[in-house]
Amino acid sequence: MLFNRKDLLGLEFLDKKEIQIILDSVKPFKSLFMRSVKKAPTLVGKTVVTLFYEPSTRTRTSFEIAAKRLSADVVNLAVNASSVVKGESLIDTGKTLAAMNADYIIIRHSMTGAPDILARNLDASVINAGDGFHEHPTQGLLDLYTIFEKKKKFENLKVLLVGDILHSRVAKSNIWALTKMGADVAVAGPPTLIPQGIEKLGVKVFYNLDEALKTADVVNILRIQLERQKENLFPSVHEYVELYQLTKDRLAKAKSNVLVMHPGPMNRGIEISSEVADSVNAVINEQVTNGIAVRMAILFLLKPKANKNAYSD
Ligand code: NCD
Repeated sequence: MLFNRKDLLGLEFLDKKEIQIILDSVKPFKSLFMRSVKKAPTLVGKTVVTLFYEPSTRTRTSFEIAAKRLSADVVNLAVNASSVVKGESLIDTGKTLAAMNADYIIIRHSMTGAPDILARNLDASVINAGDGFHEHPTQGLLDLYTIFEKKKKFENLKVLLVGDILHSRVAKSNIWALTKMGADVAVAGPPTLIPQGIEKLGVKVFYNLDEALKTADVVNILRIQLERQKENLFPSVHEYVELYQLTKDRLAKAKSNVLVMHPGPMNRGIEISSEVADSVNAVINEQVTNGIAVRMAILFLLKPKANKNAYSD
């Protein structure tokens, strides 16, 4: 088996083969999940802890469903974001969880590198469910799975990421993985929301959305993350809507079979119009379903170290 990892911290750190192994592992889990009997005994006796220091609807729920489908015990730790600001106390929280024999820790944190700190200090498998602006690897993988399911290839496929690239960990994970898989990746948005030097990652930059849309096979729309903006990065929401909202008229000028994606939560009427979100091109709900299967595959593939605190027979 070529996949031999304890943790999933980011798609930057995986090679093409490892990404392919994950994607190849998803299908049987999707079939299992879609059946009426939805459980497998894969993780019987294992404990999965979710540790979310930032809000989440679908990611946390999706991990919980995935773990339960694999028969794990799931504990959702209610953390108060204000109580943990430094790595030290994060390690302490992690050590407490290790002492309780957690096998998998799924963490979302506003600080880039927080999952990495836990991973280096614990025997449990650590899965990054989003760290700051950095990475959101399971979202990236479910986006790739959805793209491949629909388009049957990555090589030379034109994938366009639109909007708040600067604050989006989803965009970063997509870029790392898609470029490795041979896709032709571009970003479009206002100059203030596109990180400087992003071209070095092998990405084409457009400031004009209509221009970028012409050739795209896939358009992944990102949420405008107003809560992360320390200063006003565009003159007004109204102007953003004028220039960058994916509207029905804009979509009409793109390829007729262009795939429209969004990681959620959507700001309908800001980055995407309701008509587009509900159009036949959109696969937004399928992304959510695939997210469960992808997370089942990840839990199946990762290998926690035997916990030193565990009782042995
Ligand atoms: C994303 C996130 O938290 O990074 N959401 C998600 O996990 N589905 C995107 C976002 O918040 O806009």
